[in-house]
Amino acid sequence: MPAPPAARPRAWPARPMPTHTLMTHRSRTLALAAAVAVALVLPLAAQQKTLTVYSSRSHYGAESVFDDFTKQTGIKVVFFNGNNNEVFERLKAEGARTSADLLLTVDAGNLWNAAREGLLAPVSSPALEANVPAPYRDPQGRWFGIAVRARTIAYSKARVAPGDVPTYASLGDPRWKGRLCLRSSTNVYNQSLLAALIAQRGEAPVEQMVRAWVANAPVYVNGDTGLLQAIAAGQCDVGISNSYYLGRLLEKDPAFPVALAWADQQGAGVHVNVSGGGVTAHAKHRAEAVALLEFLTSAAAQGTLAGRSHEFPVNPAVAPLPMLAGWGAFKADRAGVAAAGAHQAAAVKLADRAGYE
Ligand code: FE2
Repeated sequence: MPAPPAARPRAWPARPMPTHTLMTHRSRTLALAAAVAVALVLPLAAQQKTLTVYSSRSHYGAESVFDDFTKQTGIKVVFFNGNNNEVFERLKAEGARTSADLLLTVDAGNLWNAAREGLLAPVSSPALEANVPAPYRDPQGRWFGIAVRARTIAYSKARVAPGDVPTYASLGDPRWKGRLCLRSSTNVYNQSLLAALIAQRGEAPVEQMVRAWVANAPVYVNGDTGLLQAIAAGQCDVGISNSYYLGRLLEKDPAFPVALAWADQQGAGVHVNVSGGGVTAHAKHRAEAVALLEFLTSAAAQGTLAGRSHEFPVNPAVAPLPMLAGWGAFKADRAGVAAAGAHQAAAVKLADRAGYE
């Protein structure tokens, strides 16, 4: 039989003596004063706070504005990146245990859902209210746009004239039979577009429009970039895309043969939407999360943020990239972003009824 293990020598003291029992009241006061003095003179980085962001903007790549924020404030930003569903489900499942302080996501549709589920807390901030025009933020302050995108009509410069596709409804014209590309109706960008159109017009004309699209036997394409490439390759001639995807393709290839037509300029205007964020309901660093939103929407950060992603700045004091400005001014349906949330579920049902895959 093996010998029983030798008893380990007992460490002494077993635990460090609690500091408070060793300190007199006077020495505690002195220590506290010293700690405060150190905190005041330490560089910001040495007393760094950490802010956790759940983000589905990750497909935009690393965004240097977050480094700028850390340099300026000493607040470190850590990310959990994923697609919107992953980020949303994780935040929901974690409940009050979450380490997320801020949710950043694309499309107001995702922000409406998060707010509706109680995942975002209202924020009142004069800086945010100044930086973000009212149409691009939640009336209850639960989310704020950080950049704007237009969802509009894309067409082949070789085979289509811009006047041929003046409205979303014009894509239902029989002339586009077999020449129309669409992304699926399960995509939140399309759900938000339909919800905004329902908010403007009611369901009946929108359903009629979608039925006409479906009657044109659309080619279904996965992703807006894929849709623009399908138009360039001649698989179809017209479709619907978010503006920044074309900006990115044109940056790589200025001769990319697709352009945007601003939809509904004689009517309510083109559908605009936001990428944006909201402070989480269980944020442990609420003040820092608000500070980050204020920074991202500030004039100082907007040029970099929106420029890199090819979105439009949400802050009206900042000009868009020259390429985007070169596409021409347009009338935007600014009411849609905040108003359409209530119609998102109706939009999904409508697409289903109309046979829009
Ligand atoms: Fe996108």
